[in-house]
Amino acid sequence: MLKEKALSVFEIDWKVEFETGVEVLDNDHKDIIQQANKILLSKRPEVGDYQLLLSKIENHFRREEKLMMEKEYPGFVRHMQDHQVISDKYKKLLAALKVPLDMPGRLRLASFIMEDIAVHVKREDKKMADHIR
Ligand SMILES: [Fe+2]
Ligand SMILES: [Fe+2]
Repeated sequence: MLKEKALSVFEIDWKVEFETGVEVLDNDHKDIIQQANKILLSKRPEVGDYQLLLSKIENHFRREEKLMMEKEYPGFVRHMQDHQVISDKYKKLLAALKVPLDMPGRLRLASFIMEDIAVHVKREDKKMADHIR
């Protein structure tokens, strides 16, 4: 990865508050942040990097949904709808991400991770993890 010093301001750090206590989910969440960082810290990320982030997000959502179903989580439908909204938002964003990645795209991606993914993890995933653990 071509890491540019000036781009390091975009780096997203893993925080204790993101932890759900379910290892398989925490690993997925870390992997998603790592892939986002790969894009955010590179001057010239490739389209494949943007798409890989989408598949990591979607594979993770399917994994959570399977777990929720198995454990008969009562908030399943609402949680799944939340996943759909986040997926759709990233697909829309993905269509706007350019190579090389411009500043507006970088800002939109960083805020998507912090506002949509991280907020979902802290609110919904933690609630669900309390039930399935
Ligand atoms: Fe999650
Ligand atoms: Fe979730």
